[in-house]
Amino acid sequence: MQPLYEGKAKRLYTTDDPNVLRMEYKDEATAFNAEKKAEFDNKGKLNKAITLAIYNMLEAKGVKTHLVSDVDEINLNVKIVDILQVEVIVRNIAAGSFCKRVGVEEGICFQQPIVEFSYKSDALGDPLINADYAREMGLATEEESAELKEKALVVNDVLIEFFQQCGMKLVDFKIEFGRTRDTGEIVLADEVSPDTCRLWDLETGKKMDKDRFRQDLGGVMESYAEVLERINKHV
Ligand code: TMP
Repeated sequence: MQPLYEGKAKRLYTTDDPNVLRMEYKDEATAFNAEKKAEFDNKGKLNKAITLAIYNMLEAKGVKTHLVSDVDEINLNVKIVDILQVEVIVRNIAAGSFCKRVGVEEGICFQQPIVEFSYKSDALGDPLINADYAREMGLATEEESAELKEKALVVNDVLIEFFQQCGMKLVDFKIEFGRTRDTGEIVLADEVSPDTCRLWDLETGKKMDKDRFRQDLGGVMESYAEVLERINKHV
């Protein structure tokens, strides 16, 4: 195994199989484009287990992902894909940068989901873009942008229902897609975890995601563990 790439929350390694990479989930957490940093025992373990359960659930519902197999506590094997440099954010309830950008209160429910694109660039702080930017920057064709939006909305529908069964509201999330090298198909990649989704308890409204770290609410890993426990009861 050779280290290939290190991001803020994960590391990628090559494996003996040229089509497969090993994805290691780290304990490090960052927020606000890495202005804020911390390390949490078990974060890698929890996020790996949550992503694995969600990917399996999504696959069962017909959503293709780059998951190949579970490896151990902090590693998954994933199909090698070329990650599109467009992050897709879906919002069901106003929170985070949406509230900041347009000056509305957190918690307002949208009539229909909002889909946003951002340019995956740490140097620029993942700025908001649209399909025209993506086309002119060569990140995605118009057809691909439409496909990303359509796929993200399908993921949203499946996740809303699933998290609802787990007693949580899916406020918003960020996903990434990759193109497979064999067929060129666009599949879900990266992770789906409380680092990348906002989740509120259905009854109390308690925040159960990385906002506990961003906003210094405490009990970050306790909440991630509770998210995993609830998910495991419903898969
Ligand atoms: P935002 O409100 O800060 O734009 O975040 C929207 C969603 O995207 C939220 O669920 C957190 C997730 N997210 C990431 O996964 N990575 C990021 O770098 C950012 C900024 C947000």
